[in-house]
Amino acid sequence: MADYDRNNNGLQELEPSPVEESPLGSKEDYFPSQNTPSNPPQNLPTSTLGLSQHSPIWYLTRIQRYSSYVFTAYGVAHIVNTSIIPLLTASVPESNRYLLLTRPYYQGIPAEPLLIIAPLWAHVISGVALRIVRRNLNAKRYGDSGEKEGTKRSFFSSDFWPRVSGVSKLGYPFLPLLAGHIFVNRAIPQQFPGGQSNVNLSYVAHAFAKHPVVSYVGFSALIVVGVWHITWGWAKWLGFTPEQVTVQGGEGEVWQKRRWYGINALAAAVAGLWMAGGFGVIGRGGEAPGYIGKMYDQMYQRIPVVGQWL
Ligand code: HEM
Repeated sequence: MADYDRNNNGLQELEPSPVEESPLGSKEDYFPSQNTPSNPPQNLPTSTLGLSQHSPIWYLTRIQRYSSYVFTAYGVAHIVNTSIIPLLTASVPESNRYLLLTRPYYQGIPAEPLLIIAPLWAHVISGVALRIVRRNLNAKRYGDSGEKEGTKRSFFSSDFWPRVSGVSKLGYPFLPLLAGHIFVNRAIPQQFPGGQSNVNLSYVAHAFAKHPVVSYVGFSALIVVGVWHITWGWAKWLGFTPEQVTVQGGEGEVWQKRRWYGINALAAAVAGLWMAGGFGVIGRGGEAPGYIGKMYDQMYQRIPVVGQWL
């Protein structure tokens, strides 16, 4: 993560700030006009919807932030079921019993749309929308016509967009990895008689036993990218990233380094914990026997492209 990269002059490059309470939005407070009465009427009316008049950036940053809180709650339940309980019981069938106990809380209607689908879409769409709004605001403030050194900037060039942070760079690969995981574990089983009730940790253990390379590579990528995105994301929400150090000079740099190592150490610990239970217990659970094992094979064969070799 190079969130606090410095440019050639040794200066730290920051997003336009403050982003939330933009001076554009509150210009009147900074430079009251001649016509503004000295005692403005109290209880100014809000918009017709009864909402206060905040900028789109204000709403979008809050949607991006609070949707991730909801998803974090699900993530905690998930690491408990797929790593901590398997580590405690050291048995896949025993862990399946706990999985079935907690499943009703996050699977089905209304828990699943509320806990997973809606927050996920809200988080990603608000992030992309923020990027577009900030790009347009920068263009308005600094007169950026989309041209650089006489040449037209491409829409796809990174110069065109506000700087993409390390957290965001991890967010984009996390998306297809998570979508793939949801597809294999939720969408495919629905196409079989009995649906989701056929699937539990033994389904994952079966994949590790029969297709170890794909399973280890796929789950490692999912865990590493996801845990690093979420840990750095939380560090940002809590104001703990190296970029958010306010102390200047040498002492500030020491703090930046400490934070960088601290956040990465925490991410490594969480990813290590997840892998210990996921790979160490579920990964070694072995193939499912008989009819169930055959059905799992058919399920994995439904994975597009890769499925034909499974
Ligand atoms: C569960 C807890 C999560 C937290 C705490 C979190 C935190 C964050 C933060 C702080 C950002 C903004 C980065 C910045 O502006 O510098 C961000 C962006 C992003 N997140 Fe997450 N995130 C979480 C879950 C997810 C999930 C599950 C996905 C999708 C699989 C995801 C995908 C993204 C994407 C694509 C962006 C980039 C948006 C952009 O800047 O264009 N995040 N996340």
